[in-house]
Amino acid sequence: MARIIAGVTSSHVPAIGAAIDLKKTEEPYWKRVFSGFEKSKEWMANAKPDVVIAVYNDHASAFSVELIPTFALGCAAEFPPADEGWGPRPVPVVKGHPELASHIAQSVILDEFDLTIVNKMEVDHGLTVPLNLMFGSPPEWPCRVIPLAVNVVMYPPPTGHRCYMLGRAIRKAVNSYPEDLRVVVMGTGGMSHQISGPRAGLIKSKFDKAYLDGLTKDPKELTRISHVEFMREAGAEGIEMVMWLIMRGALDDKVKEVYRFYTVPASNTAVGHIILENLEPKTKSRRPASLRGGATRKRAAAHGIRQVAVRSKQ
Ligand code: DHB
Ligand code: FE
Repeated sequence: MARIIAGVTSSHVPAIGAAIDLKKTEEPYWKRVFSGFEKSKEWMANAKPDVVIAVYNDHASAFSVELIPTFALGCAAEFPPADEGWGPRPVPVVKGHPELASHIAQSVILDEFDLTIVNKMEVDHGLTVPLNLMFGSPPEWPCRVIPLAVNVVMYPPPTGHRCYMLGRAIRKAVNSYPEDLRVVVMGTGGMSHQISGPRAGLIKSKFDKAYLDGLTKDPKELTRISHVEFMREAGAEGIEMVMWLIMRGALDDKVKEVYRFYTVPASNTAVGHIILENLEPKTKSRRPASLRGGATRKRAAAHGIRQVAVRSKQ
């Protein structure tokens, strides 16, 4: 059975991609940003996911302003890097997982989330930059990637609650896929930023840090943040953070935060990054209830099961 082992959030600033492509990662400004992802790359190399579901937003690259799906799931076998005005980034073609993606589409749509199915799509910095941050710059991406594009560029974007519930539906879909696959869900974009208008350059660290705390401990509280509040507190583009709630909804209620990094700025944004692991699934105890301790025995009597909370196998 496929299983979601962890969730990751990461910023997706295009200038991070340019720093990689133009070999500027050792410059002090960029080193500060990239050094925060060294541990993350190690973590990812150990986690060895078979598939990453990458929740991101297209920036008018694959979809023009003429057609903006709210949730678009990439079901193709390949997703080439998009030309965002200065040629496609020199990164590998993203290899999809059409079988799992189609399964997710079927499960989620029958659960009444009306996804758009995308069978041909190019992917922009919103997806390729987070892949670089988590995997470095290998000749091929080491796992399959299913892109899930979310509209956060034209009003009205989906609510945080809708995103969280979509995450829940994706979790159910993954859990019902018969093949043994290790799946990591990525939520990208954010954190507070505003690119244009009188408040251009706005960053609100207090809001960002509270959001990171909430993501680990109380994501349902975050689902109550309105669009206006995102706009006021986190800038016009801060709404990208609703995408993180799809990732969080796909995880268990209780997760283990294994890593966090926050720095300001990278281009116009605050960079927020967190790694949350699902705990091991509940396992049935082989020992009879009579051999167990008091509290455990009572729990066992009530439920007939024992939960073992250990760090996920890496
Ligand atoms: C910037 C940030 C973004 O999230 C984006 O999509 C484009 C630009 C920036 O900081 O410049
Ligand atoms: Fe963006």
